[in-house]
Amino acid sequence: MVLLGAGLDTRAHRLPWPDCCTVFEVDRPEVLAFKRSVLVGVGGLRGVDAPGSLGGGPRAERLAVPADLRDEWTASLVAAAFAPERPTAWLAEGLVLYLPLASELDLVSVIHAHSPPGSMLAYEIKQDVDPARQRDFPVYAAVRERLGIDLLSLFSPGPRPDSAGELASRGWSTAVHTPFDFTRHDGRGPLPAPDDALAANRWIFAALGTELPGDQGLCPAPARPVSGSA
Ligand SMILES: C[S@@+](CC[C@H](N)C(=O)[O-])C[C@H]1O[C@@H](n2cnc3c(N)ncnc32)[C@H](O)[C@@H]1O
Repeated sequence: MVLLGAGLDTRAHRLPWPDCCTVFEVDRPEVLAFKRSVLVGVGGLRGVDAPGSLGGGPRAERLAVPADLRDEWTASLVAAAFAPERPTAWLAEGLVLYLPLASELDLVSVIHAHSPPGSMLAYEIKQDVDPARQRDFPVYAAVRERLGIDLLSLFSPGPRPDSAGELASRGWSTAVHTPFDFTRHDGRGPLPAPDDALAANRWIFAALGTELPGDQGLCPAPARPVSGSA
């Protein structure tokens, strides 16, 4: 499993991984150094398997890979014991929207080159963001007011490249979903609001030489009532 732009993701600690699984966490060096300091603080680097507890350490082999994903990064991944001949699940959650547009195609191309059949990929993009219309959307307004960060200014303007089409041309099965597809499918989650920031989000799922899991990437979930949320 490779988490691209892993940030403070703690899946390695929380999920019941199969024994054979290694979780690689790729992010910028300063982010991984900060994460390490947080994990040291809560005892989260101990190699003890204690389900549900960060203090018990990761529940799979966890390897941090400091790298900038705009540059060449796979040499660092391979140096950290990544085996390109083994099928990999790649996850880029909340990453690609912050990368320059050109990096999106580079990223899928590099992932393809390191993915034998049986590999899967999921990533999130934002299409056609209109900063003027979305400036006052609650998430952006709150981050601006509380943290002084203008998230909208971090997204690259201009039309996104067709990275899902690029994957399809290389033999991957693909499916594209909005966040609201998950709401409909799972019976819970955000519903569209006026000038909704989430309306620009797309989740892209891809699988090479194997089926997409669940219903085109939408995994089975217990039915629950749909709840509204901004
Ligand atoms: C919004 S966070 C998402 C973190 C995590 N995937 C999650 O969903 O909780 C975006 C992450 O991408 C990382 N990132 C952004 N640009 C990057 C780059 N050029 N190289 C490596 N990581 C990058 C950031 O450091 C940050 O940890």
